[in-house]
Amino acid sequence: MVTAVAQRLAAQRREINDTLALLSLSPENLQQVRDKMRVELERGLRRDSHRTASVKMLPSFVYRIPDGTERGKYLALDLGGTNFRVLVVKIRSGIRKSVRMYNKIYAIPLEIMQGTGEELFDHIVQCISDFLDYMGMKNTRLPLGFTFSFPCRQTGIDKGSLVSWTKGFKATDCEGNDVVEMLREAIKRRNEFDLDIVAVVNDTVGTMMTCAYEDPKCEIGLIAGTGSNVCYMEEMRNIEMVEGDEGQMCVNTEWGGFGENDCIEDIRTRFDREVDEGSLNNGKQRFEKMTSGMYLGEIVRQILIDLTRRGLLFRGHITEPLKTRGIFETNDRLALLQVRSILQQLGLDSTCDDSIIVKEVCGTVSRRAAQLCGAGMAAIVDKIRENRGLNQMNITVGVDGTLYKLHPHFSRILKDTVKALAPQCDVEFVLSEDGSGKGAALITAVIDKYLYAMRFSDETLMDIMKRFRRELGNGLGRDTNPTATVKMLPTFVRSIPDGSEKGDFIALDLGGSAFRILRVKVSHEKKQTVQMESQIYDTPEDIIHGSGTRLFDHVAECLGDFMEKQNIKDKKLSVGFTFSFPCAQTKLNESYLLTWTKRFKASGVEGMDVVTLLNKAIKKRGVDIMAVVNDTVGTMMTCGFDDQRCEVGIIIGTGTNACYMEELRHIDLVEGDEGRMCINTEWGAFGDNGMLEDIRTEFDREIDRGSLNPGKQLFEKMVSGMYMGELVRLILVKMAKEGFLFEGRITPELLTKGKFETKHVSSIEKNKEGLAKAKDILGRLGVEPSADDCVAVQHVCTIVSHRSANLLAATLGGILSRLKDNKGNPRLRTTVGIDGSLYKMHPYARRLHKTVRRLVPESDVRFLLSESGSSKGAAMVTAVAYRLADQRRQITETLAEFRLTSDQLLEVKKRMRTEIQNGLGKKTHDSATIKMWPTYVLSTPDGSGERSSTWIEISFPDCDSTS
Ligand code: BG6
Ligand code: BG6
Ligand code: GLC
Ligand code: GLC
Repeated sequence: MVTAVAQRLAAQRREINDTLALLSLSPENLQQVRDKMRVELERGLRRDSHRTASVKMLPSFVYRIPDGTERGKYLALDLGGTNFRVLVVKIRSGIRKSVRMYNKIYAIPLEIMQGTGEELFDHIVQCISDFLDYMGMKNTRLPLGFTFSFPCRQTGIDKGSLVSWTKGFKATDCEGNDVVEMLREAIKRRNEFDLDIVAVVNDTVGTMMTCAYEDPKCEIGLIAGTGSNVCYMEEMRNIEMVEGDEGQMCVNTEWGGFGENDCIEDIRTRFDREVDEGSLNNGKQRFEKMTSGMYLGEIVRQILIDLTRRGLLFRGHITEPLKTRGIFETNDRLALLQVRSILQQLGLDSTCDDSIIVKEVCGTVSRRAAQLCGAGMAAIVDKIRENRGLNQMNITVGVDGTLYKLHPHFSRILKDTVKALAPQCDVEFVLSEDGSGKGAALITAVIDKYLYAMRFSDETLMDIMKRFRRELGNGLGRDTNPTATVKMLPTFVRSIPDGSEKGDFIALDLGGSAFRILRVKVSHEKKQTVQMESQIYDTPEDIIHGSGTRLFDHVAECLGDFMEKQNIKDKKLSVGFTFSFPCAQTKLNESYLLTWTKRFKASGVEGMDVVTLLNKAIKKRGVDIMAVVNDTVGTMMTCGFDDQRCEVGIIIGTGTNACYMEELRHIDLVEGDEGRMCINTEWGAFGDNGMLEDIRTEFDREIDRGSLNPGKQLFEKMVSGMYMGELVRLILVKMAKEGFLFEGRITPELLTKGKFETKHVSSIEKNKEGLAKAKDILGRLGVEPSADDCVAVQHVCTIVSHRSANLLAATLGGILSRLKDNKGNPRLRTTVGIDGSLYKMHPYARRLHKTVRRLVPESDVRFLLSESGSSKGAAMVTAVAYRLADQRRQITETLAEFRLTSDQLLEVKKRMRTEIQNGLGKKTHDSATIKMWPTYVLSTPDGSGERSSTWIEISFPDCDSTS
């Protein structure tokens, strides 16, 4: 009897062992897995075999691991593992090198994982929105790194189309689409905040980067969690799917797909096939289904069903719970020591033996998973070793995933297998404590290294706005003006055109990108009309950098030419002179150049009155210089002609500057308290006292060093058109030098100052044709950019011009908030007149307007583009000056009759004398007109009398008394 029972048990045992033996792998099996994996890795890398390879070897466009110099604040999403997370990651470099993270986990309900793509991405954006609210960061447009843990075919670091969903996701309309684009669109749909999506990365890549930040030897990333996958640093020359042979790139192997071409059918069991058939992606991810957390529980369940069916377990009862897919969750399977109680909780009535068997089944399944991962890893480390031609190699693998972290033996078996199968490699496994989001942020930071300092949150912009307002105050104050950098120059323009101006004027417009001479006729038939004719004249470099005399001679010659062509050589016309440089004015037609800015540097002009210099050059051409105006003032007047509310003028062109109408009582440098006067702020010099050092970058410093006026106009150099192309060029050179662009190739053209123009920035920025433009423009600089280079260059252009728009919004915001306070109204309604080539470029204006409205919410600002340049306005100022001068002349003429010559006065004196004589003479007295009556007062007082008696006392009521 006993023997019979023993025999039965032994037979059962054998059956169980035989079943489990299907899952146990011999050293030879494992070597074969390693070798087959190696074959598939190679096939995935090669162009001719890539399409049919089961291991896809997807390029990640991550070229390097972090070097510790990264910094900035980033947002990260981590989608595709057990948890969906939104994070903010603050990275510091230098001695205070550190990474701080805040994150929140959000649920993704099953119906969303398997609903429509739009629903999924809307849900993601909804979670981001909640997170930004929670962190109080809605208005900080942060760069975002997106960990997206699914196979993506990337064409750039921020472009990746989903190859196919894996694991538990199956949302419709996503496969084949760019996930970054889908995320951008969902952000747009929500229309609540803006983000810069800089990078999309696989979780393996994120994990590798997270670990590499601490340990530069980490060049492999492994996930053993819900899914299973590896990435590693591969030599560019081996990645045939990407152009270029230099350096390395991280490759996302997607080894989960290993075996899709049947190459491991010999080790797959019927249980694996059951699991595959019951999955969302039948036939796919066969290796993943043998090795990852999402499926191990299912394999266990299939084996238990099999054993039960054969009467080897649970007394042969297949209960409902056992039939339920997914009943063995990762954690249940892992905590095997409490197998029995777990089984009970699951409603599986088990005996003590049952528990032992279940435990064995679990052990076998997870042991096989760890061994398979080990074999795969051995193939990878050996490949890296061979790439480097090493006999022996030390390398670190960064690991993440619940399976690795929670399973008691997984990591040990994995390591042992790698050791046995890749004896020439010394492999260390480091657990990623911080998840892959940190890595995604680091990747974003690596790319963003040169750009992070160019992005500003609204808080920073508000702060800059405040600083600028302080500078405005300093420029206006009598005591603070001498040392103020923002000079706040009085212009002696007291009002905008009132519609009564008229006349025929000449306008000179010097200092912008073109030197123009114009004839402006303002007439008054029924309504005021303005006619203008203009001609552009060259201002060659040798003239604007030569002597002042030559410069003004040149201006006078051009003027002569113009008058001749206009047939007005003999007419006496009034001239309005737009001179777009900082000038100290004492009246409308007396204007001392303080300092040259922008491209000009003619000698002997600084400190001189430009009217005198111009008059000297013109000699007697019969013209009369009535007014000198800054281009901002001309622009404000031009726009004021169409909109009476215009009280601010801005130039965003070669240079940048603003003027506005200030209350006279606040202008200490001009007498009088009534009314207003236009102030030319000369805001280009903002920061010349070191006030903007915290936001200037190494590129701004380089621009300044190479400029005509080092140390001056520091704000202008960060934002205006003269410098923008150059800023982009310097950034591109730096990025190329570091290997981020053009495969590290730098051409002589790219190194030449001025070769990258500001107009290029705006054409590259354009959404549609921008990338083709980038290719074209860069091509002309001798670099052959890849598609990815073009995207990166577009990114740089956008950031640089965005910074300009943001900073100018802050200074304009400063002026607007001051105007609002001056008026004392709760809301400001005003019009800003604007001109300048940069402002007119795509899509600059929109950005500026948007930011201004955010920074000064209590305002309704109309932005009015000056269509006709500043000269129309200059003519208006001239007209007013002319009218005032004319009035003065008429008054003089009217009073002329009252003026007496000295002869006339002598004559009067002579006649008066005769008349006095006549009045005194007895004979002549009667006919005299001056009678000379005696008064009988015989003498004047001699000083001896008592004074008080001769005075009449007049008393007033006591002013102090309150009665
Ligand atoms: C997390 C990473 O720590 O691990 C994710 O941040 C990754 O990016 C995940 O996908 C993998 O593990 P699991 O077990 O959650 O799938
Ligand atoms: C022009 C004005 O329209 O714009 C000039 O008439 C001004 O006075 C100029 O200087 C500024 O823009 P830019 O781009 O030419 O410097
Ligand atoms: C799946 C995904 C892969 C990811 C892995 C781990 O295999 O396809 O991209 O890295 O899961 O999360
Ligand atoms: C420079 C000049 C300033 C001018 C501006 C725009 O900043 O200093 O006067 O208004 O350029 O042309």
